[in-house]
Order: sequence, then C-alpha cells, then structure tokens
Amino acid sequence: MSQATNQSWGGRFSEPTDAFVERFTASVNFDQRLAPQDIQGSIAHATMLARVGVLTDDERDAIIHGLSEIKGEIERGEFEWSVPLEDVHMNIEARLTDKIGITGKKLHTGRSRNDQVATDIRLFMRDAIDVIEAELVRLREGMIGLADREAETIMPGFTHLQTAQPVTFGHHLLAWQEMIARDHERLLDCRKRINVMPLGAAALAGTTYPIDRHVTAELLGFERPAENSLDAVSDRDFAIEFTSFASILLMHLSRMSEELVLWTSAQFDFIDLPDRFCTGSSIMPQKKNPDVPELVRGKTGRIYGHLMNLLTLMKSQPLAYNKDNQEDKEPLFDAVDTVRDCLKAFADMVPAIEPKKASMFEAARKGFSTATDLADYLVRKGVAFRDAHEIVGQSVAYGLKAEKDLSEMTLDELKQFSATIEQDVFEVLTLEGSVAARNHIGGTAPDQVRAAAQRARDALAAIKGEAQ
Ligand code: ARG
Repeated sequence: MSQATNQSWGGRFSEPTDAFVERFTASVNFDQRLAPQDIQGSIAHATMLARVGVLTDDERDAIIHGLSEIKGEIERGEFEWSVPLEDVHMNIEARLTDKIGITGKKLHTGRSRNDQVATDIRLFMRDAIDVIEAELVRLREGMIGLADREAETIMPGFTHLQTAQPVTFGHHLLAWQEMIARDHERLLDCRKRINVMPLGAAALAGTTYPIDRHVTAELLGFERPAENSLDAVSDRDFAIEFTSFASILLMHLSRMSEELVLWTSAQFDFIDLPDRFCTGSSIMPQKKNPDVPELVRGKTGRIYGHLMNLLTLMKSQPLAYNKDNQEDKEPLFDAVDTVRDCLKAFADMVPAIEPKKASMFEAARKGFSTATDLADYLVRKGVAFRDAHEIVGQSVAYGLKAEKDLSEMTLDELKQFSATIEQDVFEVLTLEGSVAARNHIGGTAPDQVRAAAQRARDALAAIKGEAQ
C-alpha cells in the first residue's frame, strides 16, 4: 500500500487519489462547521460502546479526553484542517489518533461515516432550529405588542391594491402575526422528525457489535433511534422540510417587506422606519432607503433555490447512502444563516415601526372606503343588497364628479339616490364607525383587535410552556 493513499480507507488501493479528485470529493472546507456536533456524537458513541463492553472504561475516558481537547483546539482556531483527510469526521479522528494512539482508532467501531454524518447534521439542525425559534417568538411578540398599541389606528385596507375598506393598523399587524404563527407550527413539526437518531445504522445494514441504540439516543437527546438502517443513512426529508418551512417563511417576510417598502414611500407615507434600519444614497441627498426589508425580500430567492436544490438532490437516489448527500450541507447552512438573520432583522425592526397616524387616516378617507357601510346601512333599512349596491354605486359616481367623499355629502345630496337615507347615515360613514361596526371574532374593530392580541399572547405562552 502506498503511503500516499488515504489512511482511513487506503488499504485496498494501489495508487494515490488524483489530486483534483481529492479536492473535488473533499467536504472539509464546509463540513468543518459540524465539528461540535461530530464530537458530541463521538462522545456519546464511545460512552455507549463502553457501556456494552466493546471499549474498556479507560479507552472511553482516553477518547473523551482527547475529543474534548480537540474541541478546544478547534474553538481556539488552532486545529489544522487537512483536505487530503476529506471531511470533518476523518480530520477529527486522525487528530484523535495523533493524540492518544491506537485507542483513537477504536472510536469508529460499530459505526460508519454514513450514520455519523446523518447524526451530525440532525444535531446541527436541531440546535439551529432552537435559535431560529427564539427569533421567531421574538418577532411574534413584537407584532402582538405593536398590534395592541395600534388597535385604534385607522388605515385603508386594500384588495387589488385599491382602497377597499378601512381597517385598523393593529388588525393588519395581527394578520402578519397569523402568518408567522403558522410558520412557527411548521418549524416545530419539522423539528419532531429531525429528532430521530440514525447512529447505529452504520454503513447501511446495522452492525455486528452488541450496540445499545437507546443509550446513544438518550445521551444525545434524540426522541428515539431511527427504525430502519437503510432509511436512516439515506433520509434527508428533514432538510427538504426545513427549506420548505424557510421558503414559506421568506415568502411571508417578502410580502411584509413589500408593504413596508410601499408604506415608507412619500406616496403612501404610512410609516417611518427608524434611521438605524435604513441607508442613504450616494448621489441623492434626500434619500432614506428601506434597505432591510428590500434585502429580506431579495433573499427569498436564494431560499427557494435551496429548496429546489435539495429536492433535486434527493430525486431518484437509490437506497441507501450516496455521495450525492454530501451536497446537502451548503444549502442547509446557508438556509439556516439566512433565516436566522432575516428573522433577527424583522424582530428588531417591527416593534420600532412608527405609524404616521394622521396620514394613514387621511388615506383611508380617500377612495370611498365606507361605501360598503352605506350599502349595509340601506340593507338595515329594508333595501335588498343588490339594489343597495346599485344606489351606492351611483352615489360614488356622483362623488367622483363632485370630488366629495360620501361623508362629505349633504343629506339632500345623498337622498337623491335613496329616500330611505336619514341623518343617522353619518354615523356609519365615519371611519371610526366603520371599523367599530366589524365587531365579531376575526373582525377589525379595536375591541376585537385587543382581544385577538390577548389570544395570540396566550397561544404563544402555551407553545413556550410545552417546549420547557
Ligand atoms: N462527507 C460525507 C458526507 O458529507 C461523509 C459520509 C461519507 N461516506 C462515505 N461512505 N463516503 O456525506
């Protein structure tokens, strides 16, 4: 055997790996990020092997001590990563053998890199999800808090981006909160299926050693060992589920971003974003650009890309492990970082949104936003809804010509269209009257918004309670 072949698997080879192939197949440049999880998994594996008598207690202790030192070397940036050693797993194992000699070579007993990497990536994703969940909770709390404060603030509600009916700003914020609440459920659901342990599947068929997978699962905090060894080493559904969650989340954040960008424009003028979330222009001195929401909107593309990447990666792969799977890491890592940063940006920014109430109110007065209220008023006076619709349509046509909102017309002007209209019509034509009248669960009335905010807070507290 040539000395130049890989020390971990070179035994059957008669020539060294081609230099390009060595670089092409190596993953250490990116999978070194899994080092903490790799060491955590190895410590649990060695502990279990000693428990069942495959390693002596002294061997276990030497391995754990060596791995702990390696962890320190990596954290301090002293560890020398080697591309010829291919990946994070073999780099750490080789260093362990350097340090503790032949005992280091016993660590890999009863395991393969196939179940090892599948375990590492699940541990990594579990940790990442917990960080992401904390940002998501912070964002939900921020939305609920602002909604409560803005329960009475009136703005135009839109359909087709045309003025539709007045709504409260708090109601709009709670609509956002509902989107994120569903994302939260999807994230926790994905975490359940991540928290299953592949270790013990070995290369694909299991191992001949008397391993106890329940012990390892418990040491690593997994819910249970994976049921089938072939599936355990090949399954990457969780990566697809996570990027699906991330895609839907970013789609939501991009919708919110789009609204924030519109609202900060001089034409809408609904809100101000504090300067710390904006940047200027190098040529136009007056500019204050909403870069943060714009960038979140832009980052949606890369997340969709990662989902397509992973779906395609897994398509048509025969059982069990294939080297293709090495390609799961970069999209996952980038998805984790992007989601975490976008959520952080939003969680910091949302509570700092400053509504320009007078401007929102003025906008809600334009575009005949209380037309439906007038129709409902006529129905209450006994007019059939379709006839009421027609009457109000004529009133609006008149208003467009006369340049008057419905609430600005005199009673006589309104009576031209229906004799049933009386003085009390002006109560329903005000914006305050319009929103207050939508007073049922899910409606925009300020009282309903405050009640919905409280329910949202309770639902969030219940989820947090469950997690503890
Ligand atoms: N670097 C590999 C990966 O990320 C580790 C597993 C390799 N297993 C193998 N039999 N080549 O998937």
